[in-house]
Amino acid sequence: MEILQNLISDDNLAWKKSLDEHTDSFLIKLSHDSILELEKKKDNLQSSKINDFPILEHEILKLEESYLIQGNGFFILDGSCLENFSNENVKEIFRIISTCFGQLYVQNIKNEKFVTITDEGKSMKTGGRYHQTKEGGSFHTDSPQWSKVPDFVGLLCIRPAKIGGISKFVSVYTIHNQILKLNPDFLKLLYKKFHFDKRNEFKENESPTTFEPIFKYEDNELKFRYLRNYINDGQKIVNQPLSSDQNHVLDQLDKAIHDENFSVSYNLSQYDMTFFNNHRIIHGRTSFEDFVESDKKRYMVRVWIKNNR
Ligand SMILES: [Fe+2]
Repeated sequence: MEILQNLISDDNLAWKKSLDEHTDSFLIKLSHDSILELEKKKDNLQSSKINDFPILEHEILKLEESYLIQGNGFFILDGSCLENFSNENVKEIFRIISTCFGQLYVQNIKNEKFVTITDEGKSMKTGGRYHQTKEGGSFHTDSPQWSKVPDFVGLLCIRPAKIGGISKFVSVYTIHNQILKLNPDFLKLLYKKFHFDKRNEFKENESPTTFEPIFKYEDNELKFRYLRNYINDGQKIVNQPLSSDQNHVLDQLDKAIHDENFSVSYNLSQYDMTFFNNHRIIHGRTSFEDFVESDKKRYMVRVWIKNNR
């Protein structure tokens, strides 16, 4: 097992909060020509594929290369240019753009490729999944309990919350630097394997946990998988609750991940879409408060993508 032992000074990888001041480094407006292509097929979006939109396809593939493969690991498509489309239209546009990056994963036992993120009144403490709650914190990577995690995650905002629910992005390279500065021995422990709770979504004769390291360095790339609650619970399931040393190191990791100096915050507005590299971006949100009316509640749609490359 290889450990990345040096500090990463490349600002494209190890960026900090100051990226916030340069929204043009991650906030993208689709070109007028791409929007025109979509408008021309407005009534047939449901049956359309990405190759029906050559200008849009070219633009998205360029964004993939410059932001998700190279670059800072994430970008936000400004939804204001989609104001002439309906909610259903925009969901189709989100599908069309997502498939440009690769293959969409089925995300759950209900066979859904597009999962709704809304407050279902559940809580993480009682076994709920993050996307079914209105809780904030618990910054994480998506689906760390799968042996092969999604490469990219896409989120579409149909409706923001009344208050809060602000998206947060953190670079894995920045966190790696911080832990290395704190204590290289902490890093060694984080490159060891932990049990991640599969949250009851596993087949008969399958293990209820996935056993994988938090940090992994392979092919010159740093990869990260993390959701603290899934590790706490996974270790309990296999009767190996976290030791005080492990808890201490994970607490230090959480402290770094939640350090305001390292995260970029962005309040997604209606029809904004964000796509990020799930191996090197940690994400989360602030807790939120909804409007009382159910048709005004915060409503996002999520996709998980296996990259084509
Ligand atoms: Fe997530």
